[in-house]
Order: sequence, then structure tokens, then C-alpha cells
Amino acid sequence: MNKIKYKDFIFEKYILNKDITNRSKLIAQDINNEYDGESIIFVGLLKGCLPFMSSILESLDCKYTSCFITVSSYKGFKSGKINFESDLTKKDVYNRNIIIVDDIIDTGKSIKYVKDYLEKLKPKKIKIASLLVKDRSLKLSDWFGFKISDEFVIGYGMDLDDKFRDLEDIYIRKA
Ligand code: IMP
Ligand code: MG
Repeated sequence: MNKIKYKDFIFEKYILNKDITNRSKLIAQDINNEYDGESIIFVGLLKGCLPFMSSILESLDCKYTSCFITVSSYKGFKSGKINFESDLTKKDVYNRNIIIVDDIIDTGKSIKYVKDYLEKLKPKKIKIASLLVKDRSLKLSDWFGFKISDEFVIGYGMDLDDKFRDLEDIYIRKA
């Protein structure tokens, strides 16, 4: 399937699953080297983080635990008010290595919100891994899979109207 039609929109295949898993392995190796022997708490941003996070964890050799924060800001193609739910406490995070994992950083609003929230719980170090970044958000991530052009994408965890998260490749909006 190279094209997807949904309502009046057209999406075209953009990033292949095998390229995503190759990038995830390289990111995992980099994390292995940096945190050699130390444990990490992965904080995934639901729901989009799931495929990317499991792909990284599969190739990880460090000791880790994972937890999740639910954060959303998108309605259709537009970024709006942030909805946020977390039950993480200072006890979970204090003096620990945190890596936040997200599917895509666009405006950076959501990731900044989550990072500010976690900083208040006094971790040892916070880093960010995102599957996709855009030019304007490049500086926000410590590891990213791919820099993409400024268009809406779906698949590999990313949705439009809570659909298409299950696509194994990433598709980009063309019309
Ligand atoms: P930001 O706050 O603008 O950086 O966007 C944050 C979140 O909105 C991302 O983590 C995604 O979950 C979602 N999002 C942003 N852009 C897209 C996109 O192109 N497709 C699907 N979801 C997106
Ligand atoms: Mg997200």
C-alpha cells in the first residue's frame, strides 16, 4: 500500500519500517554506551510512543524500567490545549536517569511541558528520544530517528483522529 485516502486527504508512504528499526537499533546502541552499567527510567508519551519505545527497548542492554504519561494536544491536524495525565511521583523520579520517548516533536509544546513537570521531581538527568523531529524542534531532542519536512504524518504509532497508529510504515500528507 503506497497511498492512503482518508476523507479528502491523501497520504503517501514516506519512511519504511525497516529504516525505522535500523535507526532505533543505532539509538539503543548509543544509549547503551552512554549509560553503561547505570539504570534508566523510560517515560513514554502515550499513545504514540509505543512502537518506537518497544523498538529501542528490544536492543537495549542497560537495566531499565518503563512508565507512561498520557499527553495529547492535537485535534485533527492542529495543535491545541495540552491534556496531561501522570501518576509519577518524586519517589519514582528523584535522582534517576530519565529518558522521555515520543513519536514526533512538532511545535515542542508537549515535550517542554512534560520536561518541566519531570524537572520538578528532581531527576539526576533528563534526556529526550523522539522518532521524528521537524526543523524547528531539532534542538529539543537528544536522539531522533528522522528529521522530516513540515507536514502531517501517520503510522508507526502516530494517528489522525485516533486512526492509523497500527500502520507499520510512516505516511506523509500530500493533499
Ligand atoms: P507538539 O506539542 O506540537 O510538539 O506535538 C506533540 C504531539 O502531537 C506529538 O508527540 C504527537 O503525538 C502529536 N503530533 C504532532 N505532529 C503530528 C503529526 O504530524 N502526526 C501525528 N501526530 C502528531
Ligand atoms: Mg506524542
